[in-house]
Amino acid sequence: MDEALAPLFEPFALRKLRLCNRIVMAPMTRGFSPNGIPGDDVAGYYRRRAEGGAGMIITEGVGVDHPAALGGSGVDGDNAPHMYGKAALAGWKRVVDDVHTAGGVIIPQLWHQGVMREQGTGPHPQTPSARPSGIWGPLDKQNTVNDAYLGSVAARAGEPMSETDIADVIAGFARSARAAMEVGFDGIAIHGAHGYMIDTFLWEGTNLRQDRWGGDRKRRTTFAVEMIRAIRREIGDEPVIDFRFSQWKQQDVRALLATTPQELEEVLGPMADAGVDIFDASQRYFDRAEFAGSPLNLAGWAKKLTGKHAQTVGGVGLSSGMYDSQKDGRSAVALINVHKVAERLARGEFDLVGVGRAIMHDPVWARRVRNGEDLLAYDEASRLELT
Ligand SMILES: Cc1cc2nc3c(=O)[nH]c(=O)nc-3n(C[C@H](O)[C@H](O)[C@H](O)COP(=O)(O)O)c2cc1C
Repeated sequence: MDEALAPLFEPFALRKLRLCNRIVMAPMTRGFSPNGIPGDDVAGYYRRRAEGGAGMIITEGVGVDHPAALGGSGVDGDNAPHMYGKAALAGWKRVVDDVHTAGGVIIPQLWHQGVMREQGTGPHPQTPSARPSGIWGPLDKQNTVNDAYLGSVAARAGEPMSETDIADVIAGFARSARAAMEVGFDGIAIHGAHGYMIDTFLWEGTNLRQDRWGGDRKRRTTFAVEMIRAIRREIGDEPVIDFRFSQWKQQDVRALLATTPQELEEVLGPMADAGVDIFDASQRYFDRAEFAGSPLNLAGWAKKLTGKHAQTVGGVGLSSGMYDSQKDGRSAVALINVHKVAERLARGEFDLVGVGRAIMHDPVWARRVRNGEDLLAYDEASRLELT
């Protein structure tokens, strides 16, 4: 192994989590679970990533036990798996058992699409989509959704969520977290990013509420805090909780939850106190400094400000970020940035390194890095199948 990459292959221990290295397969929606049920093909897909040396796998976003959790979302979500119901949970048990047999570690990403879910779609089409303030978000920003979706779905306002609606969604997260632990997952990841349910409470562009769920930055964390606490109550102290957040939203790629470290502390501090162990800071390029005057990236700041562990992500091993490779259909290998991320890891800026497309495309990516083998260029076509 190239000694400069050795930090990526250090073990990691936290609560009852034991990882053999720092490489984490990032959560990626795949849409191969008809009726929400992950089948043998999904189990094989994750088993191959465990065999290929990923220290931990975070599954694709998995719908929580709430009728408006999933549907079409203008970008993804069709045939996404559920974390409820006998058949889906039996499917997940098979996935978990296969990954464990291969020596891997796996946690599910609990997901509620919130405002992004198209009305009238998903397993419960009659249930209205859940939106904190009834709106999808500002319609005049640079977004990542298609025009048809924007015109027909996003622009149509609905009712703000009631107290009962909010309590139901939180309870759905808690039930699904418990179900995940019962089938043997090694911890819980929460999708708090990219303009979905949790993020729309955090973001001023979608949370216009004047009650206890809205207001300043800290008050806008109330939903996430109550949800994290509810999950912690269900799963106990042993399993880790990994919380993904992002500055950018699908509604506005330039959105910012925080423009200074102090503002970021206002967002992350209450969630750290509520029980988050690892902040997964979603950036499109991991090597972008977050705030002026310091080279720290978003994960670096999350770790520094909260004292919790942090995970970075964004373009590791590839020359272009997720939306750029979508435009180009491919992305070249960039071994240089595997070195750069290892250097930052060695400095203690963050603890874990998320790798998305490179591992989706190549199940043995981590093993190749360790053995100094040539890495593969990324081809967007790999989104279309579960190889
Ligand atoms: C096909 C695809 C599906 C994705 N689905 C999710 C998802 O379900 N949840 C999530 O938090 N991020 C999702 N992402 C974002 C990835 O987790 C990751 O942050 C992003 O791809 C950047 O990492 P990379 O440059 O290593 O690919 C997805 C990305 C891709 C390419």
